[in-house]
Amino acid sequence: MAMKIIEAAPARRVLRWQSTMTRPRGWVCHSCRSNVAVASRRFLSTPPSATDKPYYVTTPIFYVNAAPHIGHMYTTVLADVFKRWQTLLGNRAFLCTGTDEHGMKVQQAASLAEMAPKQFCDENAERFKELAHLARVDYDRFIRTTDPDHVEAVEHFWFLLRDKGLIYETKHEGWYSVSDECFYPESQLVKHQEAFTGAVYMASAETKSKVEWVEEKNYCFRMTELKDRLLKFYEKNPEWIEPAYRMNEVVHWVKNHLEDLSISRPVQRLSWGIRVPGDPSQTIYVWVDALINYLTAAGFPDWAPGESHKGGWPVDLHIVGKDILRFHCVYWPALLMALDLPLPKKVLVHSHWTLNKRKMSKSLGNVVNPIYAINRWGVDTTRFYLLSEGGIADDADYNNNTLVIKYKKFLQWGLGNLLGRLTRPKAWKLRDIIVNSFNEKAASRPQLSNTLHRAVADFEHALAEFAPTVAGRMEKHNPVGAIRKVLETGTQLNEFLSQTQPWALVKSPDPTQKAAAERVLFLVAEGLRISGILLQPFLPDKAAQLLDILGVAPDKRSFAHTVLRCDPDYGVPMSDPGRSRQDGLFPPLIEDSVIEFGGNIKARKKATSTDAIVQTEE
Ligand code: MSP
Repeated sequence: MAMKIIEAAPARRVLRWQSTMTRPRGWVCHSCRSNVAVASRRFLSTPPSATDKPYYVTTPIFYVNAAPHIGHMYTTVLADVFKRWQTLLGNRAFLCTGTDEHGMKVQQAASLAEMAPKQFCDENAERFKELAHLARVDYDRFIRTTDPDHVEAVEHFWFLLRDKGLIYETKHEGWYSVSDECFYPESQLVKHQEAFTGAVYMASAETKSKVEWVEEKNYCFRMTELKDRLLKFYEKNPEWIEPAYRMNEVVHWVKNHLEDLSISRPVQRLSWGIRVPGDPSQTIYVWVDALINYLTAAGFPDWAPGESHKGGWPVDLHIVGKDILRFHCVYWPALLMALDLPLPKKVLVHSHWTLNKRKMSKSLGNVVNPIYAINRWGVDTTRFYLLSEGGIADDADYNNNTLVIKYKKFLQWGLGNLLGRLTRPKAWKLRDIIVNSFNEKAASRPQLSNTLHRAVADFEHALAEFAPTVAGRMEKHNPVGAIRKVLETGTQLNEFLSQTQPWALVKSPDPTQKAAAERVLFLVAEGLRISGILLQPFLPDKAAQLLDILGVAPDKRSFAHTVLRCDPDYGVPMSDPGRSRQDGLFPPLIEDSVIEFGGNIKARKKATSTDAIVQTEE
């Protein structure tokens, strides 16, 4: 990727890319997908060199004014899955998450808590970090907008915009929402009546957040100058936003509502933030500050000529919730275009988790606390539920009943049961099955009955398609489809076992029957081995345990090893499969437990009600 220096700025240089964006390496193109063996050779023969651009994936950075909730965990875990997926493919990947600490909202929350803003942020940022650890998020940078390198990056960005003549001073008037940290045009306001208090106020039509009339001196960014470039970019890249239908919203907004953007506030109103360079009477607008975090984490502005891609720029995948679409798909590309910086390659916009079909909100007290959920169900069960039931296109309603039902169906009675059926019986040894299958000559294979022959052939075919299908879904940014494919394959493998009944065949004095049983069991073992490998990005702990129980060597757990019959060495368990369901990989959930609410109330409750993990108090 060639870059040239285009401009000198105070003490720094700005770099511009000339090449187009490259595809992350390591995955199989559409045309190669049918040939898994070729694909596998390709993976193994082209390890990414250390100088390659890492795959760069981001989460939004979280406001520290309130405790993390399940929506925050969802967006972070999604990003983690994409990072781990790239690692599985053999690519270097970089995941950035963190906290958004400046702005009115945080300033007010700190003042309510009677704390200095920085101390308030220090405490709350830790809660998000703790959640990332508990949720097994394999991040590379936890950025805080109060970090010195970030402050420097924002100041530098400001210099560059100003030097390009894209900032002007004005008296700004408008309707501002502290909760959403943005101005709204009059056309997007409604009179709103608060359901509980009956109070009537002007609010954003979209978010129903209260707005207040503000008149003050501001700096503005000439965003309207970029209108045509933005529209052209959208037209040329209709798949830039996933799901693609969200692009319509963005294009409509740019065509009808784009205005210059107010990018500072008087310090008397907002003191908690980064000062405008050269004008300490103004504080930089929190959204400009926050968006730049993605550049900071990639090493901006300290990019040596030709080296910027090493930090990961441009971003390969931004994960964002639908409520922050405009910031990421209008303001952010406009700001980057203004400096001729390459744009992110993809923005994946997910929908929201609701509770009893209502938007989770701190003021309503219907917020699901992810730490309670993890403590109660375990991290991988919570990840499993969020990832397989969460909505990219549509909102999903959080419900413990559904979690329990899906767990039983896909994990306990699905993969867990299957693993037990393969590894617990005394009638065979897994290692012998693997060894015999690899030693068996095609010519001397026992003749299977017609029915069995068809079932085995169908399953061989299904397993050959398995990993490419999952990978195809990940490539299309469809993690829900990807994990569901793995889970459904578990169900099909169980059906295959029930249908073929190898435990009956294995006892037969006829050696061909025994060999037939081994063919079936070998396919089941392969299905589980491939499932374990593919599950690693989704359920990292449980997938590792599954592969340990199967005895799959750690260096044989990459995507390249999802090819049928590519690992002759597994089968000696490195970890105990357990003797019963109770101590298996996915034991029955304890549905009856002591619930500790935010206050001091303790209660014994059936675990399938949603309120059990509702956070009633901060
Ligand atoms: N600080 C800004 C983001 C700046 S990024 C440069 C922000 N923070 S937030 O804490 O309010 O929200 C962070 C993310 O959590 C957003 O993507 C938002 O969509 C997501 N979620 C908040 N509530 C959610 C649900 N109920 N469900 C799913 N995700 C939700 O916005």
